[in-house]
Amino acid sequence: MTLIERLYPVMKPWLFRLDAERAHTLTVKMMVVAHRLGMLKSVVDAPQSPRQVMGLTFPNVLGLAAGMDKSASAVEAWGALGFGFVEVGTLTPRPQPGNPKPRLFRLPEHEALINRMGFNNPGIQSAVAKLRHRKTKAVVGVNIGKNFDTPNDKAVDDYIICLKAAYPVADYVAVNISSPNTKGLRDLQAEDSVRQLVSALKKEQASLQKEHGKTVPLLVKIAPDLNDMQIEALARVFNEQAIDGVIATNTTIDRSAVTGHALAQEAGGLSGAPVRERSTLVIQAFRTLLKETVPVIGVGGILSGADALEKMKAGAALVQVYSGLVYRGPGLVRDVLAQV
Ligand SMILES: Cc1cc2nc3c(=O)[nH]c(=O)nc-3n(C[C@H](O)[C@H](O)[C@H](O)COP(=O)(O)O)c2cc1C
Repeated sequence: MTLIERLYPVMKPWLFRLDAERAHTLTVKMMVVAHRLGMLKSVVDAPQSPRQVMGLTFPNVLGLAAGMDKSASAVEAWGALGFGFVEVGTLTPRPQPGNPKPRLFRLPEHEALINRMGFNNPGIQSAVAKLRHRKTKAVVGVNIGKNFDTPNDKAVDDYIICLKAAYPVADYVAVNISSPNTKGLRDLQAEDSVRQLVSALKKEQASLQKEHGKTVPLLVKIAPDLNDMQIEALARVFNEQAIDGVIATNTTIDRSAVTGHALAQEAGGLSGAPVRERSTLVIQAFRTLLKETVPVIGVGGILSGADALEKMKAGAALVQVYSGLVYRGPGLVRDVLAQV
């Protein structure tokens, strides 16, 4: 066990006494310092098993989900902790402060979080500048969105700005149309809207490919709160537009799993254990409906190696975690890599 894994049980009660967002900000800062001090080295002594997905070589199948490192400030540290890939963002064309605080809540009884951060981020250019000099072996994905004050009929322009900016430095780009915290964003998942958006982005990807002489896969991240018809419509568009991958899922607006909890009615997206089952069902549905060549990245409620394995059995080629890291700490990385 490394120093950071030994320290985590001592730090957790202290971090959990702090306001959730403050604890999060501190954790990311501590990760950077711990990395500089060499405290993260060889957390993963499990043998690495690289995977080829979307033409990229992933050192292993475990990724850090979007939202943990919105500004791309700790990618080296996440790589050192053992992640095979790190998805930074969501990033928008212009910097924005996000929603008023408090906007992040813990529901420890359910090993869950509710957040309504609202894409607080320093803007795509700031993240791109940071990623230009990265050294990590981890694959780096850039998750992109639209500014809160950009109307949906102009959303395509925001995504194009971000795709163009991210292209030279990203290994893949994830199009976030599933956050519940930007008004109207999830409406972009409607069949006609998603077709228009994906088709414009695929065109831009083709021209950037020529310009930069490299292929950066384009993925779409979707919500767990979709019915069968909506899932079928999305899969139809993804197949027809030759999307390179699908990330399933984002947080849920469904509160049935946490009914009665004092924080259950806080607005925002619920993540962690309560979203696990729904997310697995959505992965399974997309795996059945998508062409075999289109990988699904599974995310939602992975709190153990067994949970990760379940997602892979449901058809995920790769998996990601966020809330699990809050509740289980750095040992989760070892646990997952030992089992997948
Ligand atoms: C505080 C917080 C912020 C998040 N921010 C983003 C984000 O900016 N973009 C995004 O695509 N997903 C975001 N997510 C969603 C996660 O990436 C993930 O899809 C979701 O939390 C389910 O995984 P989990 O149960 O492992 O947390 C966020 C999640 C949390 C808890």
